[in-house]
Amino acid sequence: MSIMYGKRIRLRAVEREDVGKFHEWVNDPEVTRGLALYLPMSMQDEQNWFDGLSKRDPHQKPLAIEIHKGKAWKLIGNCGLFDIELAHRSAELGIMIGDKSEWNKGYGSEAMTLLLRHCFETLNLNRAFLRVYEDNVRAVRSYEKAGFVLEGRLRQAVYKNGKYEDVLLMSVLRSEWASRMKEK
Ligand SMILES: CC(C)(COP(=O)(O)OP(=O)(O)OC[C@H]1O[C@@H](n2cnc3c(N)ncnc32)[C@H](O)[C@@H]1OP(=O)(O)O)[C@@H](O)C(=O)NCCC(=O)NCCS
Repeated sequence: MSIMYGKRIRLRAVEREDVGKFHEWVNDPEVTRGLALYLPMSMQDEQNWFDGLSKRDPHQKPLAIEIHKGKAWKLIGNCGLFDIELAHRSAELGIMIGDKSEWNKGYGSEAMTLLLRHCFETLNLNRAFLRVYEDNVRAVRSYEKAGFVLEGRLRQAVYKNGKYEDVLLMSVLRSEWASRMKEK
């Protein structure tokens, strides 16, 4: 798999040098609010996570999200696929933009659009889905812009910040992706 280029972003392989930024982001309560992360993470935890990537199915390795800044690329987060079900041609998607100064600029929806293109036009999947906490309104809006539709709700499925919260299931089907591409 080579680097995936969008209009303003690119998705590339994660490198060991990225680990420092990831460590900073997975310890930022504002970033982890919408993620299934609960405990502080040490640099060693993060290095172990990186070392484990070499054993992963190449399709399920995370991708670094970079944006163009002048003539250079700037790392702002990561995203990827996991739990790819070959028989069902389905996969779950995840994303973290850890650089908060880059939130609300459309990079999240652009990264998810690139990942969807990869799901449907490279991996020949039929369904791409994700889970998102109901009160993560920024994420929900960003996913809607990328074409995800609400398909279900896991009631009170997580307990975070002192309360139970519903988890929303959102997905894009291959047919919906195809119609969207025709409209463009
Ligand atoms: C969730 C995340 C990927 C979204 O990426 P992003 O680049 O910030 O989002 P986008 O710019 O694509 O879209 C955000 C949208 O939400 C809107 N939004 C932001 N805060 C909002 C709020 N409080 N209420 C309603 N809409 C809101 C923005 O205005 C924008 O919509 P618009 O373009 O129609 O104006 C990113 O913020 C992130 O990684 N956050 C931390 C980790 C996380 O929560 N990951 C997702 C786990 S499911």
